[in-house]
Amino acid sequence: MKILVTGGCGYIGSHTVVKLLEEKFEVVIIDNLVNSKREVLEKIKKITGSDVTFYQEDLCNLDALKNIFKKEKFDAVIHFAGLKAVGESVQIPLKYYQNNLISTMNLLSCMQEYGVKKLVFSSSATVYGNPKSLPIKEDFPLQTTNPYGTTKLMIEQILKDVYQANPDLDITILRYFNPIGAHKSGLLGEDPNGIPNNLMPYVVRVAMGTLPVLSIFGSDYNTIDGTGVRDYIHVLDLAKGHLLALKNPKSGLKIYNLGTGKGTSVLELVNMFEKVNQVKVNKKFTARRDGDIDACYASNEKAMKELGFKCEYTLEDMCKDSYNYAKNNINL
Ligand code: WQD
Repeated sequence: MKILVTGGCGYIGSHTVVKLLEEKFEVVIIDNLVNSKREVLEKIKKITGSDVTFYQEDLCNLDALKNIFKKEKFDAVIHFAGLKAVGESVQIPLKYYQNNLISTMNLLSCMQEYGVKKLVFSSSATVYGNPKSLPIKEDFPLQTTNPYGTTKLMIEQILKDVYQANPDLDITILRYFNPIGAHKSGLLGEDPNGIPNNLMPYVVRVAMGTLPVLSIFGSDYNTIDGTGVRDYIHVLDLAKGHLLALKNPKSGLKIYNLGTGKGTSVLELVNMFEKVNQVKVNKKFTARRDGDIDACYASNEKAMKELGFKCEYTLEDMCKDSYNYAKNNINL
């Protein structure tokens, strides 16, 4: 089977491509490299021994996308490509709406024109906003608090409407919680451009000495130790979830949370990181970050029941693998 992976040079995309190749799928990547690096292709080859077909293209370029669909004859699509920085989306909302929505609509029209029925879409727990209770289930109310999250919500709505009009489509929406960790080889990992917004890449840089101190945003949340609680999931478990979604015989439009079902506070994560890596992370407590919520973690029962999804890796693995990747990529 030939799978199109959009954004396949990115953090979650590249880990999913490795799993696809290991399971002998044929993979084609379209990535505009705006938030990823071409060298990831060599690392994927080093890990798997397999080549992928790569197009450096922008999904917003409909003609280019049509030519690729015409040439490649895909059996399915996994759609990761998109801008995904919450803070940046508040600064440049129009760019986020244009990029994330137009690219997805172009993809859907090419799928329709070339008879590709199966799509796995990368959504986010951010569509739940500030949940009224925990753990979060897939039928919870949806509300977003930033343009990035709203693009995900809008795309979910587009997928629901397109499915309504074309019930022979097979669409899976995966709502990620907080992906962290890295490939065991130390060759692939999270490598955001510039100063990281997310917790783990920031912790890694403080541990490496490339950043002076971790600011812990808020210590007065209604949580076990006052710091924010999130559901951190190993990127390898997340990648596995995509393979299960791809192979799921259940047709129709399906929505699954991909999380561990466990909440971890910022302080708990930092303490675990220091312990397993035997390293010190300079930290200080500062004011809350705008838009942050106290706590968020998944119910992953539906994915476990219908996909056979099961998290294999622990917070210890996530902390160890993240640091191992950093040590192998000194340019962080
Ligand atoms: C985690 C916790 C912060 C940085 C975001 C997006 C979500 C998804 C994952 C794309 C919070 C605290 C963080 C720091 C800190 N992205 N923190 N100091 O905000 O839960 O989710 O990334 O799909 O859509 O919303 O992740 O890693 O930014 O924050 O104290 O320097 O760490 O307050 O409690 P978040 P995060």
